[in-house]
Amino acid sequence: MNDDRIADIVGQWARERPDLDPTPLLIIGRIQQMAAALDAALRPPFAAADLGNGDFDVLAALRREGTPYTLTAGELSHRMLVTTGAVTKRVDRLIARGLVSRSVSAADARGRVVGLTPAGVALTDRLIEEHLANEAAILGGFGDSDRRTLERLLAAMNRTLESRDSGRMGDTTRGVRIRRGGPADALAILDMLDAAVAWMNDRGNTEQWGTTPFSAKPGGAELVDRYLTENLPYIAEVDGTPAAALVLDSGPDPRAPIAPAEEPERYVRLLVTDRRFAGRNLGSALLAHAVQETRRAGVRLLRVDCWAGGGGELVAYYERHGFTPTETFLAGSWPGQVLAQRVG
Ligand SMILES: CC(C)(COP(=O)(O)OP(=O)(O)OC[C@H]1O[C@@H](n2cnc3c(N)ncnc32)[C@H](O)[C@@H]1OP(=O)(O)O)[C@@H](O)C(=O)NCCC(=O)NCCS
Repeated sequence: MNDDRIADIVGQWARERPDLDPTPLLIIGRIQQMAAALDAALRPPFAAADLGNGDFDVLAALRREGTPYTLTAGELSHRMLVTTGAVTKRVDRLIARGLVSRSVSAADARGRVVGLTPAGVALTDRLIEEHLANEAAILGGFGDSDRRTLERLLAAMNRTLESRDSGRMGDTTRGVRIRRGGPADALAILDMLDAAVAWMNDRGNTEQWGTTPFSAKPGGAELVDRYLTENLPYIAEVDGTPAAALVLDSGPDPRAPIAPAEEPERYVRLLVTDRRFAGRNLGSALLAHAVQETRRAGVRLLRVDCWAGGGGELVAYYERHGFTPTETFLAGSWPGQVLAQRVG
C-alpha cells in the first residue's frame, strides 16, 4: 500500500470488481476522508477555549452581525440551520461562561435577544483569527488560481448535490419547500420587493431598483401580476411562509435591449428573497430549482441578467452559482450584465 489510501482502495476494487467503475471514490472518498481530518485539524483552538460543539457557531453568528451583536433565538436558529431548542442549549452554556447574555431589546420590537458580552467579543475575535490562520495554513500549498479552481469545482458539486436532494425530497430541504406561485402570492412578492429596495438603499445602492417602493411605483403592482399570470413563478416557503421568489420565462424582457438566444432558453426574470430570510441561501435553492426546471423542460440554456453596477456583487453572485457573464448592456444609463449557464 502507498500512502494514498483512497487510490489503493480504488485499485483493489478495480481488481476485484472489474465490471464496476470505482473512480468516483477518488473524489467523493477523498472529500469524506478530508472532512474528518479537517475537523481534527481545526478543532484544537475551540477545544482549548472549552467550547462545545456548535458553541462557536453561536458566537460567530452574533459577532458577524456587527454592533450591538444581538439576534433573537429564532434568527440564530435560521442562521445556523438548527432548531430553537438546540440554540437554547448552546446559549445557556455560553451564558454560564459569561460569553453571551439574554436581554430585552431596547432598540427594536424584537423582544428578547441574545447578545455577546465584551468577553464574548474578545474570545470570538481571537478564535476567528486562529481559525482562519489554520485554514490558510491548510491551503498554503495552493496558489490563488488553484484555490479559485477548487472553490469553483466544489461549489458546482455542492449545487449538484443540493439539486439532487431537493428533487429526491420533493423540493423540501431544511424546512424549505419550493412550489409554483400564483396570483395569491402578489402581496407577498410586493412586500419582498419593497423590503429589497429599502435594504439596497440602506446599503447606499439607489440605482439598481431606485428608491421608490415597488408597491408605490407606477406599474409596479401590474408587473408583479404579470409575473404571476404570464410567466413561471416559483415561491420558496419556509415553514409555510413565502420567503423568496423566482420568476422564469422563455426569454428576456422584450423591453430590455437583450437579444433572445438563438436556441430555446429559460430566463430568470426575477429573483428576490424576503430580507427576514436572508442568509438562508434561498436564492441558491431557487436557482438550483431553475436549473432543474430548465432541464425538465428539455431546454439546455438558462440565462439571467442583473445590475452590473456597485462593486459587481450581483454578477459575482451569479458566477458563484454557475453562470458565466456573456454580454453587457445599457438600459438608458443603467448598466446590465447578461449571464448564461448550460444545463444540458
Ligand atoms: C439576490 C438574492 C435573491 C440572493 O439571495 P440568497 O441566495 O438568499 O443570498 P443572500 O441574500 O444571503 O445574498 C448573497 C450575497 O449577495 C449579496 N447581494 C445580494 N443582492 C445584492 C445586491 N442587490 N447588491 C449587492 N449585493 C447583493 C448579499 O449581500 C450577500 O453577500 P454576502 O454573502 O457577502 O453577505 C437576495 O440577496 C436578494 O433578494 N437581493 C436583493 C434583490 C436582488 O438584487 N435580486 C437580484 C436581481 S438580478
